[in-house]
Amino acid sequence: MFTVTTTHVQHLDLSSRISTSSLIRSPRPLTQKRESAVKQFPPQHFSITTLNIIATITTTKMTITTTTIPTLTAHTHAKSQYTTTSSRLAARLSIHNYNTHPQSWFQFAQTFIPKSGSILEVGAGTGALWSPPAIPSPSQLPSVTSLTLTDFSPAMVATLNSNPDIAALKSILPNIKIQQCDATSLPFPDSEFDTVVANHMLYHVDNPIAALQEFKRVLKNGGRLVVALNGLDHLKELFEIGGMVERGSTIAGLAKITAENALEQIEGAGFEGVERERFPGEFRLPGVEPVLEYLNSVGETDMEEGKRETVKRVVGERLDEGGGFRVEKNMVVFVGRKP
Ligand SMILES: C[S@@+](CC[C@H](N)C(=O)[O-])C[C@H]1O[C@@H](n2cnc3c(N)ncnc32)[C@H](O)[C@@H]1O
Repeated sequence: MFTVTTTHVQHLDLSSRISTSSLIRSPRPLTQKRESAVKQFPPQHFSITTLNIIATITTTKMTITTTTIPTLTAHTHAKSQYTTTSSRLAARLSIHNYNTHPQSWFQFAQTFIPKSGSILEVGAGTGALWSPPAIPSPSQLPSVTSLTLTDFSPAMVATLNSNPDIAALKSILPNIKIQQCDATSLPFPDSEFDTVVANHMLYHVDNPIAALQEFKRVLKNGGRLVVALNGLDHLKELFEIGGMVERGSTIAGLAKITAENALEQIEGAGFEGVERERFPGEFRLPGVEPVLEYLNSVGETDMEEGKRETVKRVVGERLDEGGGFRVEKNMVVFVGRKP
């Protein structure tokens, strides 16, 4: 009955020397006269009278604002990048159009995934691993018994649900499920899947070993784990320019797992026979636009015009003779087995 909401107590007359807590605990009136007036009213009027008192004593205003500053970790960064939109990931994926290797990245990654049994993908993003050219036609998966695509982001799950390539796969493989869940807490029974895939997502997890152990739990004995990660120098030319305009690689400083230390972590989680293979080639971007698109997607807001001009100038100075901008890539696939 005597509750005074935060809105009401945000404007207080400091000179009155009434503390916020006293107003909330007990709406004590300012004067004896006011006290006797208050006593005459039934309880439902009492709180209204109290609010009136606050309104009349307001001469000097104080606004109380509270801000919670979240600690930046790999996970909080991933939440800010992916929870509400899949467009940042989609923009970044366009860099694969400029791969110098004859195979696309997703075609290469698919070569490590057996086309049989039950498959779980964790952090599936937009579903590019299951779209052409990686899977040129739905008939490529004749012996797959189920495909479960998961992601912690509601926006990614919505994109997966509306992906026409995945809808087309359902004509051949009706047992496709799309589910929102976190890599460290998978809503599946033990020993459920023949293959678990986690491409370019473990560096978004604060405790990758916990996620790897979860992958092991849901795999059958002898089941296969396929993990893709980047090395520390991945896209170094791109992020060097990004660093000049506050669009450096945030994940590089936050990731607990990279291509350099993944082997020991995957083995540490209990996988056996772990092998790795680096995707050959580099990216050759045709001028400044793809650089701008990529660096723009790294931030939370669009890049300011002055910074775009800086990127244009620096990339312009670094183009090769054919007008291309060469970018090193260091993408590695790790394959292991649950004993
Ligand atoms: C760099 S994207 C890669 C997407 C996809 N695997 C690919 O290769 O295109 C990382 C994805 O992992 C998802 N992700 C990040 N943290 C996750 C977590 N803790 N559990 C599940 N998914 C997560 C993001 O929402 C995003 O879709």
